[in-house]
Amino acid sequence: MAKQPSGVMDAIVSLCKRRGFVFQASEIYGGVGNTYDYGPLGVELLRRVKDAWWTRMVQERRDVVGLDSAIIQHPQTWVTSGHVGGFSDPLIDNKTSKQRYRADHLIEEKVAKYRKKGRDKDADALQAKLNASLGDNAALRALIDEAKIKCPVSGTDDWTDVRQFNLMFKTTIGPVDTGDNIAYLRPETAQGIFLNFKNVLESSRQKPPFGIAQIGKSFRNEITPGNFVFRTREFEQAEMEFFVPPAENDHWFEYWKSARLQWYIDLGIDPGKLRLRDHDADELAHYSTGCTDVEYEYPFGWGELEGIACRTDFDLKRHSEASGTDLVYFDPQTKERYTPYVIEPAGGINRIALTCLIDAYEEEQLEGDVRTVLHLHPRLAPITVGVFPLVKKGGMAERADELEQELRRAGLATFYDEKGAIGRRYRRQDEVGTPFCVTIDGDTLEKGTVTLRHRDSMEQETLPSGELVAAIRERIDAWTRPERKA
Ligand code: GLY
Repeated sequence: MAKQPSGVMDAIVSLCKRRGFVFQASEIYGGVGNTYDYGPLGVELLRRVKDAWWTRMVQERRDVVGLDSAIIQHPQTWVTSGHVGGFSDPLIDNKTSKQRYRADHLIEEKVAKYRKKGRDKDADALQAKLNASLGDNAALRALIDEAKIKCPVSGTDDWTDVRQFNLMFKTTIGPVDTGDNIAYLRPETAQGIFLNFKNVLESSRQKPPFGIAQIGKSFRNEITPGNFVFRTREFEQAEMEFFVPPAENDHWFEYWKSARLQWYIDLGIDPGKLRLRDHDADELAHYSTGCTDVEYEYPFGWGELEGIACRTDFDLKRHSEASGTDLVYFDPQTKERYTPYVIEPAGGINRIALTCLIDAYEEEQLEGDVRTVLHLHPRLAPITVGVFPLVKKGGMAERADELEQELRRAGLATFYDEKGAIGRRYRRQDEVGTPFCVTIDGDTLEKGTVTLRHRDSMEQETLPSGELVAAIRERIDAWTRPERKA
């Protein structure tokens, strides 16, 4: 099999639109910046990624329970959590072009330019100054001047001051904006978990170490989203807060780092393109004392798939103080009372789905032909089985229709296709990652056998139709990521 082409992102974007995975949101009105809708195949992929996460994080474990908290919580939540005061980006405007940029990103781009030109000393010096200036608007502004940074659009250096812009979307509670009824769309699902710590503890008979998991939409008003659905303003998070006795913090941090990396490998992602990367101190969020990212090597470089953060007792303590509700754990056996520490694995469902698509994508060189194929894990593939009568006539279409109903009743996602040459029908399913196709032909009517064709190997086997469901289930369980020939 061939390696991925360098234009793989363009190919994925085009495939997603063409085959109904992802559409530009509000497309008929010209679109809305970096916001996407998921089509018939995309929504199935997202559902399967969420199911895989929930199965591993909640269903398979005795020590993790689920939650579905509201997007709009009491506004004090975000003051207490530090998001009102500290969840912001340093932005700068160019007065000529009226374009707005993240000041730190402009400086990072200059660092990258130096590196490209082999000026590593200048790059290192500027990077060091940037690191020392983060969090200091005046210092960042001075560095923009010192590095002689110009607006990529206007080419001028008439910059405004650097100002902090909060990333939370604001709304109002009630029909009238009175100024004192501001609320926020949650920028992370985690806070809903902290607010419910006591409710869950008291109702579920859990005790630390235990976790609360949640999947849901979060919102961040970033000015530089990008790379298709990699970074969007509205996204679906999958987060789990794991509450531990403080002395067990380091043990569980190590545990969750390797458990989360393994989950991506089990999803069929190339282990050679995955790594764990510890955050530098200046990258840490305001609530975190340590963080390790699971990263993937995207066509545009290494990027975060998921963060595993040590949140200590920061959130529970702050909410205890601000609300007056004691969010502590009392151990009836040891008579010890303590605020648990928290290890938080947090990832984005949309980004995980995109990563699965990128990793699965291949333009395979065949003799005199190129085959576009997604080697998705069969559990993630939006369609599990394509059902094809070889020809419409002779009762084959009717038998195929019956067989498709049987497969659907068995819980397998199917796609019925009777149009065009059989080879073309296979290829259409390869392109969307359908792992199996079943063909109904003259032998099906005479001998009761069907042809099961495999996406990855393109091999075909003949089976009695009565064994089809069991055979597909068995092959889903036995699936392993195919070796790719360079
Ligand atoms: N709760 C972690 C994050 O939102 O990134």
